[in-house]
Amino acid sequence: MKYKIVKVNRAHLEKIRTSFDSLSEQDRIFFDFIQNIRIDELLSKSRFFDVIVALSNKELVGYGHLEKFKQPYKKHVCKLGIFIAEDYRGTALSNKIMEYLIKSARRHKLRKIWLSCNSQNLRAIKLYERFGFVIEGVFFDEELRKNKLNDIISMALYLTEDKSSFIPWSKPAIRSEEVIQLHKVIKSDWFSQGPMTKSFEEELKIRCGAKNAVVMNNGSSALMSVFATMFKPGDRVLFPSFTFVSTLNSATTFGIKPILVDIEPTTGNIDLDKAEKILRENKGKDIMGIVPVDIAGHSVDIKRVYELQDKYNIKIVEDAAEAIGGIAYKRPIGSWGHATIFSFHAAKNITTVEGGAVLTNDEEFGHSLRKFRSHGESSTKFQWDSYGLNLRITDLQAAIGLAQMKKLDAFIKNRNEIVSFYKSELANLLEFQEVKEYVDVHPYMMCIAYADKNKVKEIYDYLLNGDIQARLGWAPLHKQPVFRNLFRQVKLKESEEFSKKVICLPIYNGMKITEAEAVVDRIKGAFRE
Ligand SMILES: Cc1ncc(COP(=O)(O)O)c(C=O)c1O
Repeated sequence: MKYKIVKVNRAHLEKIRTSFDSLSEQDRIFFDFIQNIRIDELLSKSRFFDVIVALSNKELVGYGHLEKFKQPYKKHVCKLGIFIAEDYRGTALSNKIMEYLIKSARRHKLRKIWLSCNSQNLRAIKLYERFGFVIEGVFFDEELRKNKLNDIISMALYLTEDKSSFIPWSKPAIRSEEVIQLHKVIKSDWFSQGPMTKSFEEELKIRCGAKNAVVMNNGSSALMSVFATMFKPGDRVLFPSFTFVSTLNSATTFGIKPILVDIEPTTGNIDLDKAEKILRENKGKDIMGIVPVDIAGHSVDIKRVYELQDKYNIKIVEDAAEAIGGIAYKRPIGSWGHATIFSFHAAKNITTVEGGAVLTNDEEFGHSLRKFRSHGESSTKFQWDSYGLNLRITDLQAAIGLAQMKKLDAFIKNRNEIVSFYKSELANLLEFQEVKEYVDVHPYMMCIAYADKNKVKEIYDYLLNGDIQARLGWAPLHKQPVFRNLFRQVKLKESEEFSKKVICLPIYNGMKITEAEAVVDRIKGAFRE
């Protein structure tokens, strides 16, 4: 599709008024605006900084302008408007027009570009976000078209901002759709756990293929509620030693006696052969459960865990805090029926800033979890008939979660592209977390790479000196000061070695390939020096 972008002239403008005759309602709004301006005004420098059109074989296929504000105190700002002909949407033309106009605004030494757009026009919103526009406000019921009220958002690009080149190890992507949802909650006047949380739970259920989703204020609360509800104080349960601290302390808080198991050196997940050995040796001595953790989002071998469940009559709690969106054995993580917990902390694949959930197919268990997260209140208000805490999330957070859920596939796709790029570029220098054949989708909450344990800190420091933040492995739980007394005799070789060789490379939902290139260049530099 060939086209050229030129400054507007009188002939173009006359054509604009006849060219686009089959306009959608939304485009019509824009063209009404243009048509209400006198051609002389569109051509004069007093009202516009720039007006351009895109031509293809003399046909008008695009239009863009930067309009001035009348007020003298708004001389540093302009309003942007663009239109792309139906056949040219989704092609490079919109990018070209945006690039042209942003350059023009810089040439005019403007400090801010402002625009407004229909809140339903997600394609346009995504285009503006790609160029760095951020949402500034939501105007409900702002336009009445064909008897339907439309919400409008305003977005802005700040041209003076010094964009830092710092690349963090993780970064949430909270953008326009999340802010629109948040504004809906604020407008509704219902902020605490309510209808948005219910909708978020519905989405989670559908997405994960489970009968119950119980959302909590963080992943650790989700774990606590499960341990408090499923086990008794004194129950012995198997845990991997390499995991985040709250996998364990959420259990010990409720009197569970942990038995630590070593991990597989290639995935970092619990070694199920070693778990089975412990179960076999302890047969008859009541080990009540197993807590596999999906490290970085890599699913545990869940079929094998079910074999252990059947053989040794143990309960399963899957700590999938890092694994939302993962698929193993062709089934989404969370769909198997056992208690599966997710975290929606800001570093996770979808976030509610802080948040978590338990997925289960057991209705009664789901009911107990709901009770536990709300002080143990019975069906009679202000009557508490079981122990509980306040582990509720707010509707403000659930609104963010709902918007994030819609983007989960795109987030995971981007993360997989980043990991493929790292792997292809760094294959000679680093090893990467093994992906087992039963894993259909690895959501890559983290990108775990391995280096020589004597080199790993050097790479980390070299990256940091280049404004790139990676993350080093942390000591396994039996080596953490908080658990020193509990596991004084424990030695788990693979967990100890693993934590020394791990370096998590930067990865996040909105990460660009150019940022991954900067990481790769710097790692290559670390090996050259
Ligand atoms: C494996 C694992 N378990 C539990 C948690 C706790 O989740 P949250 O931070 O939401 O409490 C995390 C998150 O950091 C985690 O990675």
